[in-house]
Amino acid sequence: MNTNNHPIFQPLQWLEHPLKNRLAVAPMSRVSASADGLATADMVDYYTQFAKGGFSMVITEGNYTDEIASKGYCHQPGLISPAHAAAWQPAVTQVKANGALIIAQLMHAGALSQYAGETLAPSAVQPTGVKMVQYGGTGAYPFPQAMSQEDIDIAKNGFVSAAKMAVLAGFDGVELHAANGYLLDQFLTPELNVRNDQYGGNTHNRFRIIAEIMQAIRAIVPAHFLVGIRLSEGKVNDLKYRWTAGATMAIEILEEVRNTAPDFIHIAVQSGEWERDSFYADGTNYAALAKQITGAIVIANGGMHQLTRAARVISESHADLLAIGKAALADPAWPLHALNGTTALPFHPDMLWPEATIQHTQKVIQSNTLISL
Ligand SMILES: Cc1cc2nc3c(=O)[nH]c(=O)nc-3n(C[C@H](O)[C@H](O)[C@H](O)COP(=O)(O)O)c2cc1C
Repeated sequence: MNTNNHPIFQPLQWLEHPLKNRLAVAPMSRVSASADGLATADMVDYYTQFAKGGFSMVITEGNYTDEIASKGYCHQPGLISPAHAAAWQPAVTQVKANGALIIAQLMHAGALSQYAGETLAPSAVQPTGVKMVQYGGTGAYPFPQAMSQEDIDIAKNGFVSAAKMAVLAGFDGVELHAANGYLLDQFLTPELNVRNDQYGGNTHNRFRIIAEIMQAIRAIVPAHFLVGIRLSEGKVNDLKYRWTAGATMAIEILEEVRNTAPDFIHIAVQSGEWERDSFYADGTNYAALAKQITGAIVIANGGMHQLTRAARVISESHADLLAIGKAALADPAWPLHALNGTTALPFHPDMLWPEATIQHTQKVIQSNTLISL
């Protein structure tokens, strides 16, 4: 394939941001921050490599948003204090200096914390599956406690204050993590949210916490600061989960999203099975619906390192940008390889096993033992 003409290399003028291609790095938790959530020198190098490797946008791993109940992992970065903002600043500066946008993902783990013994969630529904060993988890997820109005207010304030810290750190924007089964997705998902107050019931009510956070963030960030949202159907502990009401539910959610006027919507398929997990019985597609209904920039994620799939998603206007996860982790110069027709180092599960840290991945890559796969 002559990749120079591939749709992923079409430039895109997004507001005042000239993007050289359609390639973003997907958010990936690397549990490599200090014990108190400060970004480290390893993280500066790690994030800078993606910009040097040709990505036009980098979305960070999920940052925790409050000290109370949001943390998903030990050694997760946070954005809850000026010290966290200052720790992120070198990575932000380097990524921008190398020509890429950098967006901070804001994450509250809710019932899916990998280490907390007591968790909060919209309702007391025990998550299915077991915790993730690579992220320090062991055993079953505990039964979460249903959030009170005060808990909800604390969580909302955490997101808003984290957005303020992201501005302070120099990020170009924030992505609200409302995907993959974490807190905001727990609110959206009918089986996990059985509340009978204003935050439960119909789609409008289940979306309410997200709408309130988006609105409050908008009110305190500069006009040019990008505010977006990540959505998915699949959960980390249930990759094949689909909305039971299919496209009807997707449309209802996207109509709510439209009312928050996001700058971007990131539709994620963590399984990587884009065709299986993002199309509905009537042939419509979650990302394409997001574009049609909201008119915002749409980012598609899930196996987008496959060039035929990537071409289709861009050419058929299902999305404007593609977020690449594991292929970027294995080889941060993936875009340059695709452009030059050279071979990128492919992803191997050992890069994340038995731990998902940056240092471990580097060690595995440098050991060269995976090349023959
Ligand atoms: C190591 C790792 C960590 C991840 N951490 C996050 C995260 O912090 N936030 C998030 O929204 N998704 C996270 N994901 C999901 C990815 O963003 C993405 O959805 C998934 O890898 C599928 O994309 P791919 O097929 O390009 O790898 C993570 C995935 C991996 C492999």
